[in-house]
This record gives sequence, structure tokens and C-alpha cells, in this order.
Amino acid sequence: MKKNLVVIAAMAAALCMSVTASADEDLITIGFAQVGHESDWRTASTQSCQDVFTEENGYDLQFVDCDNDSATQLEAVRNFIEQDVDYIIIDPIVSTGWDEVLTECEDAGIPVIVIDRTIDDSDKYAAWVGSNFTTEGLACGEWLKAYAEAKGIEEINVLVIEGTTGSSAAIGRTDGFAEIAEREGWTILDSQDGDFTQTGGQEIMESYIKSYEGQFNVVICQNDNEAFGAMDAMTAAGISYGVDGDVILVSFDACTAGLEYVQSGDINADFECNPLAAPFVEEVIQQLEAGETPETVVYMEEHWYVNEDILESITVTVDGEEQEQALTVVTDEIVEAQY
Ligand code: AHR
Repeated sequence: MKKNLVVIAAMAAALCMSVTASADEDLITIGFAQVGHESDWRTASTQSCQDVFTEENGYDLQFVDCDNDSATQLEAVRNFIEQDVDYIIIDPIVSTGWDEVLTECEDAGIPVIVIDRTIDDSDKYAAWVGSNFTTEGLACGEWLKAYAEAKGIEEINVLVIEGTTGSSAAIGRTDGFAEIAEREGWTILDSQDGDFTQTGGQEIMESYIKSYEGQFNVVICQNDNEAFGAMDAMTAAGISYGVDGDVILVSFDACTAGLEYVQSGDINADFECNPLAAPFVEEVIQQLEAGETPETVVYMEEHWYVNEDILESITVTVDGEEQEQALTVVTDEIVEAQY
């Protein structure tokens, strides 16, 4: 009797295992080589993928936090190839050095989807979903021009706290803003890498204060976390910033905490970088699964947020084409709905 029970239990276990195995086999496996965890934006981006690529939705997501290290990111992609995943998602820390590993993905027959930042030295991927960072930088410059005119500010002396060197996010925002600065004859006193972190923003701002105290009236931080660090440094040095301050403070990302500071007037303007790419990536994957050809370039919808209701819209010229977009004054509802 006991022996029979053991046999039945073993058969049940085997049945259960084979059901699980076939259920697992039905899942689409995805390897995601994420940049790291440097910012609120990054947390929202990771969450977006983890919310969409769940087992309930039919996916098995292998997630690697590459801690802002390019060698780790390349290794993560090679491990995904080794595991023979169905798709690889890459948010490239830097924009170059990709062709070799993307060729390996291609040879292994694994489609790659790039999100957020761009890859500049290879086109061996199925699609890219992200933001136009140059447009963000241009918008920041055009807003500053219009804002300064509206406020009667004649001289613009800028300090820029850049994002990670070599990342397309930093390159685009730097180039876009520099184009307007050059056209308007503004002085960019300095432009250094704050690595998209709060600590980086604070350290760079502290060293800027030592070198340029009394010489600057604009600080451009290339993400919210750097702005929080810059605010700490300026507060500690007794420098006022924001809508009622001596220094105009501008940021990018527009995550919840960033928008709270726009609403309170500590940050004058915040140019959104939308991290919720995963639903669009899923669409690409489903199209590939169905044998269809997906859109190869998908831009995220983004807003430009301000505190004061003094300018209605900004026009930027991208690739010779004028694009007008409204400026949005931050409200409680906007903050509550943000990521
Ligand atoms: O690539 C997007 C940028 O990277 C975001 O602006 C920043 O917060 C993140 O770390």
C-alpha cells in the first residue's frame, strides 16, 4: 500500500513537472541589460519592464542591473546569447562599442530591441524605442531664451551638469542646448559629467561654486537627481535658486520628485524624458512573434513642465522642421499621475 502511494506521488510529481515545463516553454524569454539604478528615471524604467514582462503576460524576464559599467553590460548580453533567450533588450550605457556583440546576437538569431539611449555604431537591432535627446536640449535652450526675455534677464551665464559621458542622453542634451547657447551668444562657464546621480550633481555643483561663485545665473542639470544634488550644494552655500531665486535651475526627466520641485518653484523648468517604454517594446515583440515588421524607430510622448504661467509654448527646429509644443504648468493631478 505504502509502495503504491509512493508510485502515485512520483507520477503526480512527474505530471506536475511536465505541466510546468510545457508552461515554461510557452513563455517568451527576454534578457534585459539595464543601465543601472542611478536615478528615479531608471527605477521607473526598470519597473515599466517588470510590470509588462510578467509570467502572467507570457514572459520570462531575465533582468541584469549593469551598474553603469559598459563591460558588465556587454557580458550580460553575451550571457543572454549563451542562455539562448528569445529576445534581448538593451538600454546602452554608452552609444559606441556595440557592433561586435550585436553581430553575435544576429548570428545567434536573437532579435535585439534597444530602448531609451541610442547605439551609434551599429544598426543590427530590430527596433529602438526612446526619446529624442537633442530635441530635449533644444527645447531647454529655446525655453531659457523665451523665459529670460519675459523676465528681462539680459545676461546668461550657464553651468551645465552633464549626464554620463558617452551616453546618447548626455550627448543629445548637451549638443541641443549648446546650439541655442551659441546662437544667442550665452556664456557656458563649464560643463562637467555628474553621471546622472544625486551625489554627482552635488559634487560637481560644490566644485562649480568654489570656481564660479557670483558668476553664474543658470544651472542646467541633465536629470532630476543631479538637480537635487545641485540644490543641496547651492542651499549649503546660501545661493538661492528657482522661481524666486538668483539662479534659474533647469532639469530633465520630470519624474515625480522633480515635478514636485517644479511645483514648489525650486526648479524653474523640467523637460520630460518618458521611461515607460515597455508597452511599446511588447508591441514590437508581438509583431515579431507574428512575423510582422515592426516600426524601427518609436519616439516616446513627452511634456515640458514649468512653474509659471508666463509662456504658452516653445518652438524648436529639428532637422530643419519647426515643432511647436505647449508648456505645461505643474498641478497636483500631474504630480500624482507621474511615475
Ligand atoms: O537615458 C536616460 C537618462 O538616464 C535619464 O535622463 C537619467 O535619469 C538616466 O539615468
